[in-house]
Amino acid sequence: MKEYKRILVTAALPYANGPVHIGHLAGCYIPADIYVRYQRAQKRDIKFIGGSDEHGVPITIRAMKEGVTPQQVVDKYHAIIKESFEQMGISFDIYSRTSNKVHHETAANFFKKLYDDGLFEEKETEQYYDEKAKIFLADRYIVGTCPVCANPNAYGDQCEKCGSSLSPEQLINPRSALSDAVPVKKKTKHWYFPLQNYEPWLKEWIIEGHKEWKNNVYGQCKSWLDNGLQSRAMTRDSSWGIKVPLPDAEGKVLYVWFDAPIGYISATKELTDKWDDYWCKEDTKLVHFIGKDNIVFHCIIFPAMLKAHGNFVLPDNVPANEFLNIEGDKVSTSRNWAVWVHEYIKDFPDCEDVLRYVLCANAPETKDNDFTWKDFQDRNNNELVSIFGNFVNRTFVLMHKLCGGKVPKLHEDILDDDDRWIMKEIESSKLKVESLLEEYKFRDALYEVIDLSRKGNQYMQKKEPWIVAKSVAENPEAQKSIDNSLHLCLQLTANLAILINPFLPNTAKKMLIMLKVVDKMLDWENAGKLKLLSVGYSLRAPELLFRKIEDAEVAAQVERLKNGSKTQNAESGTQEQKSVEPSALSIKPSIQFDDFAKIDLKVGTILSAEKVERADKLLKLEIDMGFEKRTIVSGIAMHFKPEDIVGKQVVVVANLAPRKMRGIESNGMILMAEDAAGKLHFVKPENVINPGSGVS
Ligand code: 2FM
Ligand code: ZN
Repeated sequence: MKEYKRILVTAALPYANGPVHIGHLAGCYIPADIYVRYQRAQKRDIKFIGGSDEHGVPITIRAMKEGVTPQQVVDKYHAIIKESFEQMGISFDIYSRTSNKVHHETAANFFKKLYDDGLFEEKETEQYYDEKAKIFLADRYIVGTCPVCANPNAYGDQCEKCGSSLSPEQLINPRSALSDAVPVKKKTKHWYFPLQNYEPWLKEWIIEGHKEWKNNVYGQCKSWLDNGLQSRAMTRDSSWGIKVPLPDAEGKVLYVWFDAPIGYISATKELTDKWDDYWCKEDTKLVHFIGKDNIVFHCIIFPAMLKAHGNFVLPDNVPANEFLNIEGDKVSTSRNWAVWVHEYIKDFPDCEDVLRYVLCANAPETKDNDFTWKDFQDRNNNELVSIFGNFVNRTFVLMHKLCGGKVPKLHEDILDDDDRWIMKEIESSKLKVESLLEEYKFRDALYEVIDLSRKGNQYMQKKEPWIVAKSVAENPEAQKSIDNSLHLCLQLTANLAILINPFLPNTAKKMLIMLKVVDKMLDWENAGKLKLLSVGYSLRAPELLFRKIEDAEVAAQVERLKNGSKTQNAESGTQEQKSVEPSALSIKPSIQFDDFAKIDLKVGTILSAEKVERADKLLKLEIDMGFEKRTIVSGIAMHFKPEDIVGKQVVVVANLAPRKMRGIESNGMILMAEDAAGKLHFVKPENVINPGSGVS
């Protein structure tokens, strides 16, 4: 095996076009963070690079949708994403952004070097163009039917249903995502990177040289290479992005997938003057953590770019995960079928380690996996609380009760087979966990740690110091057996703190406090040792490491998920994380007057307003409709305080069929207007008029 002097870990730069959900965490950020924390504990020279991907169509579409500038979009979501990562303990050494100056310069210089070396093909081709919106339709600006799975809403770069990578030309019945117009073909010039020239080298490097890569990664690379590579445009027609650094390139920017991975280099430059040690010295181990939809970019396109440029190291590994589904269904931001990290943190404060645990224990390492709230609850209650937490708590309680709150002595002369068994388990756990972590097998590694605590419980159960204690009065020698079992359980607790630290850093910190030891004890070299705590050292009182999660808490989450996906459609504009549907910017198809006349709009006055329990976004309103009083549930709670809206007049869709939301029947809907910043305003008569008045 190659000897490395330093490690550079990158985690995919998420698009700053929306908050992050747990699928993002499970796919790449939690495994990356575990790996980095473990390597730091090993005292290795390591840098962990992250940041927001702020260019490309995902950003411009979101900006159009929100009626703001792309810069406003990225400023808003960069801040939200960064905070979510911090709260989840993702310990980047830098979390940068691709709109930074250093990145614009680095990416432009990279492009210029390839251009100067004659490595691009300059081609004028016909591309789809939206005559209404006056824009070329690359990537996600164009939608149509997927030629592979017949999904009618596949994008011009990818079908999200079957995962196929596509080009706009492959779409059947293409239409503009901006105006729904049928596009025309128009000539435009771009710079193409001839990937086929790198095919022999890529085959040698991956197919022959990286057989150790995960099956899902290796398999996808092999299939791309077997199918043959083609030139790919590395520029786009757009005003948002990094300007193509050539004189005849007005209105052209770098393709987001050209600039984004270079973002790893720019962020390293921002972090340290020694950035080139990490990027250019052969004895650096470069590891890209990503989700499976990014495999081709990190294993084929970016390495080919690095190779073409020269002087850069190539990834040693790309341990991509598969996708995490939610309650049996694919994550869908447009349907709001997702568990958003910032919402989780609000609902489960101080439970970030629980989510880290569940997402690692159930990580989609080899295939797509399912997250369910029931499994979340079970893993917390049956594994963290009942096994790990229980062992640590019992050890502390008994040590205080039976050993005066101090680390008791180990009486070597009376060690029995059970003692020797647990000692061996402690000593051997380090190597097991370590070799699994080095191989990116995070689930198995975590299982080993929990299993060690399970063994601790078994040992304790065998030794039963609380029973032995009953005989101490008549047989003082029995105290020696109690001392031994609690001595070993305490040394095991200290070991557990070290081993769990990469996975659950907050839990490890709490354990350090109880053990009254300094951070240094968490150094990996201490794992497997049996003398971490000195005899006679007095320890703190126990503190529960985990709390039970109740049925009602998870039921509320399931309901939020289901209602969230419904209100997404019904309560237009109230979901911050609503993402763009293909035709979101278009006006809906025309309707006849008769259709409109079916809608009965009436003026109402809000009599009372209150929050709906366990639903952040919903208010329950009592409305005076003149002829009757109505209950309406409306998704406006994030925008208005209940007390501020009592007495206000509103326009109500009075003949909308009743619908249950969070168990409350809602009879109608309130009309709201949404401004460019996403703020909601009531639509109401200019002056107060009688409730029940018609609106037409
Ligand atoms: O898929 C995504 O969310 C991309 N923004 C990932 C980019 S990773 C890297 F290249 F920056
Ligand atoms: Zn498809």
